[in-house]
Amino acid sequence: MAFPPAFIDELVARNPIEDVVGQYVSLKRSGSNLFGLCPFHGEKTASFSVSPDKGIYYCFGCHKGGSVINFMMEIENLSYPDAIRSLAKRVGMEVPEDEQYQSRYHQQERLWALHKEAARYFHSQLYAPVGAEALKYAMGRGMPKSTLTTFGIGYAPDDWTGMVDAMRKKGYTDQELKDSGLVTVSQKNGRLFDRFRDRLMFPIIDVRGNVIGFGGRIMNNKDKEAAKYLNSPETLIFNKRKNLFALNLAKKSKLGYLILVEGYMDAIALHQYGFDCAVASLGTALTEDGTNLLSKYTEQVVLIYDGDEAGQNATKRAIPILEKAGLQVKILRMRDAKDPDEFLKKFGADKFKLLLEESSNRVEYQLNAIYKKYDLQNDEDKVKYLQESANLISGLSSAVQREVYGNRVADAAKISYEAMKLEIEKALKRRLYQQKKKQEKIDLAPAQNLQPKTRSFHYKNMKSAMAEETVLAMVLKQPALFDQAENLTAEIFSAPILGRAYEQLKNRYTMGLEVQPGALTDFTSEEMAHIAGIMQRHTGPLNEEAFRDCVHTICAEHQAESVSSDNDLLMFQSKLKERKGFKG
Ligand code: GTP
Ligand code: MN
Repeated sequence: MAFPPAFIDELVARNPIEDVVGQYVSLKRSGSNLFGLCPFHGEKTASFSVSPDKGIYYCFGCHKGGSVINFMMEIENLSYPDAIRSLAKRVGMEVPEDEQYQSRYHQQERLWALHKEAARYFHSQLYAPVGAEALKYAMGRGMPKSTLTTFGIGYAPDDWTGMVDAMRKKGYTDQELKDSGLVTVSQKNGRLFDRFRDRLMFPIIDVRGNVIGFGGRIMNNKDKEAAKYLNSPETLIFNKRKNLFALNLAKKSKLGYLILVEGYMDAIALHQYGFDCAVASLGTALTEDGTNLLSKYTEQVVLIYDGDEAGQNATKRAIPILEKAGLQVKILRMRDAKDPDEFLKKFGADKFKLLLEESSNRVEYQLNAIYKKYDLQNDEDKVKYLQESANLISGLSSAVQREVYGNRVADAAKISYEAMKLEIEKALKRRLYQQKKKQEKIDLAPAQNLQPKTRSFHYKNMKSAMAEETVLAMVLKQPALFDQAENLTAEIFSAPILGRAYEQLKNRYTMGLEVQPGALTDFTSEEMAHIAGIMQRHTGPLNEEAFRDCVHTICAEHQAESVSSDNDLLMFQSKLKERKGFKG
């Protein structure tokens, strides 16, 4: 939905970007910018910049960027209107809404409230007479009252309408109950029934503290037919790929890493035994969305999936997803117990800590996986094992590491370290050769390096686009330059996104508004990040002559393009005539 530009302007003005970002990132001033550690990717040196003057942020590492509104969207996982709403709330501004949006947001708020009430209801049932058996079960699984309270664990009685009735009494309508996913609707008469019956209830809480869904565990595996776990369906407020169980608690952990496990019970046991950094995926494989969420809170993830084949396959799939998000991954393989919950109860926290300390990094894990693929009694297999391992080891940047792992592989295959070393060196040479080839390709095409990282912003006229970027950056520094480029309009720009940004900024200038990229509207998040990148990269001194040169280049390139397309047209027409046998 479109908000009035004047409203956005005031919103942006009253939410200085350095204040809003400062609530999440500790920032240090350096010149006209502030710098801090990027909250969107793991890093040790600050490449995340905030420009109070321009009203934008930009990370030189991961290329995320944009206005204060984009920042809120990114950091809190909000839609554009919700980000606006939260910024408005922050400074007590009223949001002009259209009816449709208002009702959608209202619906969300009602669903959050309904879920909170439902969680309260389930929790109270655990301590009511109907919950006696469930309470016994929970206690029997080693959950003391403090754990039940911390996680808000509850019980859904073996009743058809217990929850429905309780929620109706609180004033929730049948439509709201249907939207919540907490009921099933009878096909016969349309009546509502509790979706969760006779189950131990685990509330799923998002990072902002809203209850958004439930996982319900069957008790004592009573009914062999029924699913062991039943989860809330996807609703307006619940997306199981975008949330992680217990992250609301784990995000406050001081341990400095996050542990990712498969089961609710595993995460809970870990918290209980002092590993308060544990989270669980919600009965799905780890997704990119889930990983992005993780990377907002940590740089290091310890992956502990069950020891069975399914768990190990899931581990293999999760590693590249986590690494792609820039996370350091350690893998802990469960031994002597099927999952962390069982392990902790059998052996205690100290033993678990030992496991954690010796948990292998990706290299060990992968070497192990290669080892398992081959039968080392077989010579052919042995050669393949050595080559594949050597190839993996050659990719390690530290010589010490290469030696340590090289030795290990040599031992396993019962060959000398010298022979293994030769194999690694060969692999290393091959790798370096490939790298060199790749670098040559890059060097040969320097213009390619200046292309935007995102494909959709591919510059088709690089010469003009570079001039356009410079012009944009300069008018920001000195808006009066707009007056020196009266002929410059959006159509003349070779890159449409730059043309649109220029035009919007120019309009602000002519209307007497501040020329602030942070107040631009009608750009997608990707577009805003791209624009922020340009603003933050072009930091050269202001030079009016350079500005005029750039404007000239843009106009000249535009002219050349239109002439050549005119030529194309003429050529086409004459060919057409020739073919049709026309003369002159
Ligand atoms: P306990 O048996 O109580 O220790 O639970 P667990 O967490 O160890 O369960 P398990 O290892 O069997 O499963 C791991 C996770 O997969 C669970 O926490 C659920 O999120 C999910 N899951 C397991 N069984 C089912 C099922 O039948 N249906 C669905 N939708 N999810 C399931
Ligand atoms: Mn278990």
